[in-house]
Amino acid sequence: MKILGLETSCDETAAAVVCRGDDGRATIVSNVVLSQIAEHAAFGGVVPEIAARAHVEALDHVVAAALDEAGICLAEVDAIAATAGPGLIGGVIVGLTSAKALAWAAGKPVLAINHLEGHALTARLTDATAFPYLLLLVSGGHTQLVGVLGVGQYERIGTTIDDAVGEAFDKTAKLLGLGYPGGPEVERRAAKGNAGRFDLPRPLFGRAGADFSFAGLKTAVRMAAQAASPLVESDVDDLAASFQAAAVDCLADRTRHALEMNGGTPFTALVAAGGVAANRAVAVTLRAVADDFGLPLVVPPLALCGDNAAMIAWAGAERLAMADGDIGRGDMDATARARWPLGELEPPGRAAA
Ligand code: KG4
Ligand code: ZN
Repeated sequence: MKILGLETSCDETAAAVVCRGDDGRATIVSNVVLSQIAEHAAFGGVVPEIAARAHVEALDHVVAAALDEAGICLAEVDAIAATAGPGLIGGVIVGLTSAKALAWAAGKPVLAINHLEGHALTARLTDATAFPYLLLLVSGGHTQLVGVLGVGQYERIGTTIDDAVGEAFDKTAKLLGLGYPGGPEVERRAAKGNAGRFDLPRPLFGRAGADFSFAGLKTAVRMAAQAASPLVESDVDDLAASFQAAAVDCLADRTRHALEMNGGTPFTALVAAGGVAANRAVAVTLRAVADDFGLPLVVPPLALCGDNAAMIAWAGAERLAMADGDIGRGDMDATARARWPLGELEPPGRAAA
């Protein structure tokens, strides 16, 4: 089956065509991502109104490009999947409404996909990872440890009690006068710095459970930067390195706890997803954790770590396959949601007869 996917929940306007064979094998036929970074850079972060407007202007072209690259027309897809949340509501409405309109026009079913489920199932798109696995979802808006038991079956094991780790990377970058988005910049500067120079806190490290906290680390970076100012280039490198080391230590410790806490479920793999999973230091450290538990580590390739529409199309394909392709017109009545925790999802069912 061929699925067209649309993603508009943050600052990427994306469309993709993904094919799922009868054997469950996935092929990304096209994957178009138009980043709005330039539009938001001057503001040092994503401005929701600008994002929504940019999605309206770009989405038609991005969808056309994805179909074109795939060499198919709309009539040839089996269903249209779109992010229905969680995310910036204006953008989500643009994507979901467009998907419904396309579905109506082409007489196809529409699938309202949870963005987090898209990230959660990416390891099956790229590596055919078998259920159940432990997912560390690390992005600009989310930091969660989730037991992925099946399509629509997610068990939250830990989450952040304040900021997301990607947000901490972005705020650190802003504080150090680095560009937006901050994660890649902090990583680049950290590679040149001395991680041992600033003694930064590691919130919740070693504590029971698998929750995260990054607010205190962010504040500590600010105070260290103030104390060392005026900052020269090497100070920025050392602060970036010290921050990244602390953040990575926290991610590793909490992931370890999640694996230790896991009594009954025999996970097949440790999977990382979300923009922060693109960080090399994160991947290297998680590999050591996975090795200790005798598990393979799955980190999707860079282009599929961050937001994209292939993961949305794939989540749609998994849902459609589980319902034996029988979903009627699908989620034509679904509404866009700013908030939509993974735990509220359910496995797909067949359409009522
Ligand atoms: O998953 P994503 O593309 O968007 C959502 O937030 O849903 O993640 C974006 C986040 C941003 O906070 C960005 O700074 C961070 O991922 N990020 C990184 C790196 N690349 C992107 N953080 C650390 N190191 C990186 N190399
Ligand atoms: Zn995301």
